[in-house]
Amino acid sequence: MTRDINHPLPHDSLAASLLAAAYVLEQVMDRGRSLSDVMSDGILTMADPAQRAAVQDISYTAVRNWGRAYAVLTELTGGRPLKPIGMGYLLATSLGLAVDPTEERYEAHTLVNQTVVAADSQVALRPGKGLINACLRRFYREKDALFSRSDSDLAARWGFPAWWVKKLQKEQPSGWREVLSASYGQPPLVLRVNRRRCTVDAFLQACEREGLEARALDGQAVWLPKPVPVSRIPGFADGHVSVQDLTAQRAAPLLDVRDGMRVLDACCAPGGKTGHLLELADLDLLALDVDVKRMQRVSDNLRRLGLLSSGVTLKAADAAAPDTWWDGKPFDAILADVPCTGSGVTRRHPDIRWLRRSGDVAAMSQLQMKLLDVLWSVLKPGGTLLLVTCSIFGEEGEHLLARFMGRHPEAVALPSPGLVLPQAQHNGPGHDGFFYARLQKPPLTQA
Ligand SMILES: C[S@@+](CC[C@H](N)C(=O)[O-])C[C@H]1O[C@@H](n2cnc3c(N)ncnc32)[C@H](O)[C@@H]1O
Repeated sequence: MTRDINHPLPHDSLAASLLAAAYVLEQVMDRGRSLSDVMSDGILTMADPAQRAAVQDISYTAVRNWGRAYAVLTELTGGRPLKPIGMGYLLATSLGLAVDPTEERYEAHTLVNQTVVAADSQVALRPGKGLINACLRRFYREKDALFSRSDSDLAARWGFPAWWVKKLQKEQPSGWREVLSASYGQPPLVLRVNRRRCTVDAFLQACEREGLEARALDGQAVWLPKPVPVSRIPGFADGHVSVQDLTAQRAAPLLDVRDGMRVLDACCAPGGKTGHLLELADLDLLALDVDVKRMQRVSDNLRRLGLLSSGVTLKAADAAAPDTWWDGKPFDAILADVPCTGSGVTRRHPDIRWLRRSGDVAAMSQLQMKLLDVLWSVLKPGGTLLLVTCSIFGEEGEHLLARFMGRHPEAVALPSPGLVLPQAQHNGPGHDGFFYARLQKPPLTQA
């Protein structure tokens, strides 16, 4: 596709946003890049925050609804590949909006018209504008029939690849439908109030003054039922709050940290749980992540929260290679929020489902075990390790824990939440899916 985002279209038009979102969709689905990575491309750096928000919303929706949109597109085009490839992605982007199950964002005639205008603005796509027009009009005429015909395709029906759906059917035989629908849709905006800078009550009052609906949940969590950009959240820039899912907020308190403890946060980026740990106690904390770029986000986040104290060391390093970061002094507590498939956080990262392959689950589980073996070796006798994955697959949860216990029979499994399945927004915000296990290393006994 011609990536002429500086085309002559008015920059705040839907047509311009559709073109930019079609680029994002192509990069994700054709090139296998993550949405967050593509969204940081220079080509998408728009001066107008409203246009950027529109492009992000359309891109995320198109990726989320790819299963249905692709099946419908295949039917509309008789399975013929569209050339150039960008034409297919532009059409798939508009169909992604048109098939959205939760809301009709744009009137049918607006979406058809703006998609045609978008195609017309690009030399390479102009010859296809008639076909685009015909396909979209037919979609609206035959929507119900197209939906019911595509229902036989698991990816269209459930919005996740067939291997994913089948895996969940096997692992959650009674609840897989609820899990899939809770994993769909938009994520709620849940915040964690930084108790070193603000109280939940003071934050609720600040929201009221700004006309924002806000509801206190457990602990330091507050839900904004009508999401707004972080720039509109009172005190955000001053570190009064962080965006963090309700289930993710359970991690730090589970480690039961106290002032002066020596703590390792082994896979810390972007630092959501690091910040929470430091809000709870004055720690001697080492935070690692293998990804240098993501490590920068950790220091930005901690600086915003006012938590970059002398007791905090941030290091870009491979947690599996302790000779590069360990000084030989064991840790009282370790947070092992290990890399995983992310199958529990697909509302926040709708691209995950299409980018992962079924074989990735076992590969991730191997990596997780390797990291756990190393981290266990640097834990003090009597210390606690908290294993966290944002996955709902057994290999990254219960089976991983069972394998770990087999390799380290001395480990004591402390009471833990275990598998927390994602929950859809209903009267409350719902939450992401996670697996939590707390493991204690027995204290040394005197001979
Ligand atoms: C689930 S994320 C961590 C989220 C983070 N704890 C938070 O709450 O914001 C997993 C992280 O593990 C990092 N990672 C992957 N392999 C690693 C390794 N070998 N050593 C250290 N970090 C690693 C990834 O870069 C990623 O940032």
